[in-house]
Amino acid sequence: STAPVPSARGLGGAVAIVTGGAGGIGLAIAGHLAREGAHVVIADRSAAQASAAQLAGEGLSVSGIDVDVASERDVQAMVAHAEASHGRLDILVNNAGIYSSLTPKPFSELTAAEWRQVFDVNVIGLFLCCQRAAPAMRRAGGGRIVNISSGVAFKGNPLMAHYVASKGAVISLTRALATEMGQDNILVNSVAPGFTLSDGVLNNATLVDGVKGPSLKGRVLGRAMYPDDLVGAVAFFAGSGAGFITGQTLVVDGGAYY
Ligand code: NAI
Repeated sequence: STAPVPSARGLGGAVAIVTGGAGGIGLAIAGHLAREGAHVVIADRSAAQASAAQLAGEGLSVSGIDVDVASERDVQAMVAHAEASHGRLDILVNNAGIYSSLTPKPFSELTAAEWRQVFDVNVIGLFLCCQRAAPAMRRAGGGRIVNISSGVAFKGNPLMAHYVASKGAVISLTRALATEMGQDNILVNSVAPGFTLSDGVLNNATLVDGVKGPSLKGRVLGRAMYPDDLVGAVAFFAGSGAGFITGQTLVVDGGAYY
């Protein structure tokens, strides 16, 4: 069979890596995929084990590994861990990103070093994860990659030019990789969330104060967005219903007035 997801029922038996899965949006995704029946590996540069233990305590199949997605060596070890623990790799969710730790800044003050730091993780780190996951997915007969982009890539957003550009790059990279990986039955799609009240965002008062009001005003559904609001879109791209979709980006933002 060429089906990348071994079971027709939910994600039963599939093996998934969620980068940045120790908190916020990533933790919500990890929990959701695990509840759908997947074995989940949380790969994060901090608290991976603790967050995995929390979900494992609910009876879910989740393990954790310390990974900096910008490190080739760490990313290689991450893929090896998934295959060694569960024998295969079917799903990669590229959620790790630099966002909630950013201080909003006018473009006139942004330095090249700040650009490089954001691109190192959000773009090059994401690329490395895709590149190193591909051979394992080929061995499994195919796979699914879901990249977390952002609605700001379409709308623009003041005071975060480097971040906005990095998320635009994630959308074009999704398209580019889809064209090369399709021959191996690896489907590559992206989910672009609107402003989401994740743990990281809630800890950054400048972000909450600066973005929450305008983002609510511009939202059709008129309420705050939480990590649980987007997990279904990720599971859709990872699951059996999305077997003929690749290179796409789905915006999950409660509807935006442009
Ligand atoms: P967060 O800051 O709360 O969590 C990000 C997670 O990624 C953390 O667990 C962090 O330790 C991990 N991480 C960061 N750099 C890493 C690295 N180099 N290697 C491994 N792990 C790393 O962020 P949040 O809000 O949960 O966002 C998750 C993703 O969603 C990010 O890619 C973000 O850009 C994106 N996003 C967030 C939105 C929001 O409003 N919160 C809106 C649109 C997209």
